Amino acid sequence: MTEETRLIHSGLAQTPLARTVGPPIQRGSTVLLPNAASLYDDDAQVTYGRQGLAAHQALISALAELEHARGVTLYPSGLAALTGALLAVLKAGDEILVVDCVYKPTRRFCDRVLRRFGIQVRYFPPQLGAEALMAICGPSTRLILLESPGSLSLEFQDVPAIAAAACQRGILTLIDNTWAAGWLFKPLDHGVDISVQALTKYVGGHSDVFMGSAAAKDPKVVEALDAGVLDIGWAVSPDDAYQMLRGLRTLPTRMARHDQSARRIAAWLSERPEVASVLHPALPGTPGGEIWRRDFSGACGLFAFTLKSASPPATAAFLDALELFGLGFSWGGFESLAIDCVPQLANRLAPDAYGGALIRLHVGLEDPEDLIADLLRGFAAWGAAA
Ligand SMILES: Cc1ncc(COP(=O)(O)O)c(C=O)c1O
Repeated sequence: MTEETRLIHSGLAQTPLARTVGPPIQRGSTVLLPNAASLYDDDAQVTYGRQGLAAHQALISALAELEHARGVTLYPSGLAALTGALLAVLKAGDEILVVDCVYKPTRRFCDRVLRRFGIQVRYFPPQLGAEALMAICGPSTRLILLESPGSLSLEFQDVPAIAAAACQRGILTLIDNTWAAGWLFKPLDHGVDISVQALTKYVGGHSDVFMGSAAAKDPKVVEALDAGVLDIGWAVSPDDAYQMLRGLRTLPTRMARHDQSARRIAAWLSERPEVASVLHPALPGTPGGEIWRRDFSGACGLFAFTLKSASPPATAAFLDALELFGLGFSWGGFESLAIDCVPQLANRLAPDAYGGALIRLHVGLEDPEDLIADLLRGFAAWGAAA
């Protein structure tokens, strides 16, 4: 062998690997197969890296544990998980009913892409009960898309009742379960067919990795999701899969802290003279609170409140005065964030349902008393501008 060939073949993977706590991060497109007979034997082994290697398999099994699922598929973002799962089970001529409080990019996909492929899209108000929802289903309704609670204005849907009624009619249900992070609510145990989450949020937990998952129990749905990934070609990097697995280890601990701090801040806000209402399910009288108490084991750090003045300059003054709350989309990381929700409500069925400035907070892992001091800075600026 020449030195060139020796160099090219030096330093290749060693087996067996030393056993570490987490899985190895195997980087590989090519998978070397033991013999010619295995080349096309896809059922027995992974034959190509896109099918997922050690870190992917470990993440999939941990997520199956989290979501009480039989099968989990991974996607390069939460939005890709939602769109990928929808494409895996819908076909031209179907109709999909979508809850009106759905994440805005999911709505954009339904309006622009699903409609282009001949799928009818209708929106329904999140308050609609199971019976009323069944009454508006038509013969071609194939799927009901839920997001409970809505990630801006916290509308809870009666998911178990809707899933049971839809199942009787042979209609699939899919939920965006990101708020619960797969931890606080187990949609598959309540009859939902597909539970999707943006792992980017609480599972990742550090605002630095994108990924999404779709989980299912029914073997036919699992098969359809797997085929969708295979056909479309979604793949995630093993480094990202490892990061998600690392985030998952501390998910329950972080969620408990987010919950505790967010409840403290929500209760404090509810007493403030600048605040018209607080949308947090643990506060008495919040719409959807009874569903949350029945179905969820806790709350995360994401909730919203309305300011008494709807004046855009006053809202901007409030947000601009915040020093600890970053101004940014996304949530689920260790850091606190705030946004003005009003520009995102425009294409809803009832865009002005909140009658004022709707502010969404993500309460991170900081000391809640420091966050309260920050909100006081915001209120002082708001008062000066209102
Ligand atoms: C409720 C909800 N679902 C899905 C997503 C999409 O996740 P990703 O940013 O990973 O695409 C987001 C992102 O903000 C979200 O808030």
